[in-house]
Amino acid sequence: MRKQVIAGNWKMNKVHTEAEDFIQTTKNEVPSSDQVESVVCAPFPFLQKLVEETKGTSLKIGAQNMHFEESGAFTGEVSPVMLKELGVSYVVLGHSERREIFKETDEEVNKKVHAAFKHGLTPIVCVGESLEQREADKTMDHVEAQVKNALEGLNDEQAAQVIIAYEPIWAIGTGRTATSEQANEVCTHIRRVIIDFYGSEVAEAVRIQYGGSVKPANADELLSQSDIDGALVGGASLEADSFLKLVEAGK
Ligand code: G3P
Repeated sequence: MRKQVIAGNWKMNKVHTEAEDFIQTTKNEVPSSDQVESVVCAPFPFLQKLVEETKGTSLKIGAQNMHFEESGAFTGEVSPVMLKELGVSYVVLGHSERREIFKETDEEVNKKVHAAFKHGLTPIVCVGESLEQREADKTMDHVEAQVKNALEGLNDEQAAQVIIAYEPIWAIGTGRTATSEQANEVCTHIRRVIIDFYGSEVAEAVRIQYGGSVKPANADELLSQSDIDGALVGGASLEADSFLKLVEAGK
């Protein structure tokens, strides 16, 4: 049985006091990590404080991006070494906003996935099609290529620990959720792709999240699908109340 992972992605939201209030309200209320993994992926400036404040609780902290190099002349970037030193546990990689706005390539995402493993961070790798690609019936091919490219070169043990977030771009922040069937169909396809490369033992271990307008009202149905093992949540993860409802739904 795969354990569900519910991860909030705050994106570029909140100021320090709001982040603090959220963590104080939620850190002792999330279910035990034996039941569900609860993660908040916060902006870089809040990470150190949030990691300190959640020590000893079941709430874990993640970053939303990082560079793949360990150090060097990369103005404005944050390295995996820095994240590890802070005690960050997870890192979101290849989010569609990074791919679209900051032109991140599959190759860079793959380098970041390798860097995450090298430094003991769990990567949450985002994949997903645009509306244009869905309408042109290219969803499966596109997602398959993104998954293959992101996992390229990982050994079995690493591949089994990757978390993949299937986020159809047309469902992000739009209020338009994929139906649970549409979401599960793609997640099942992703698992098949992993079977082809790593065999069924690894593929059965990989957690595949759905992301795109997940909220307490639709979480139960999405999370009950056979190949959906959690959610990566933007808007609905910003309020403590709704985040707590989402992690409950993941139990
Ligand atoms: O990474 C989460 C995300 O892109 C989905 O955002 O606001 O539709 O839940 P939202």
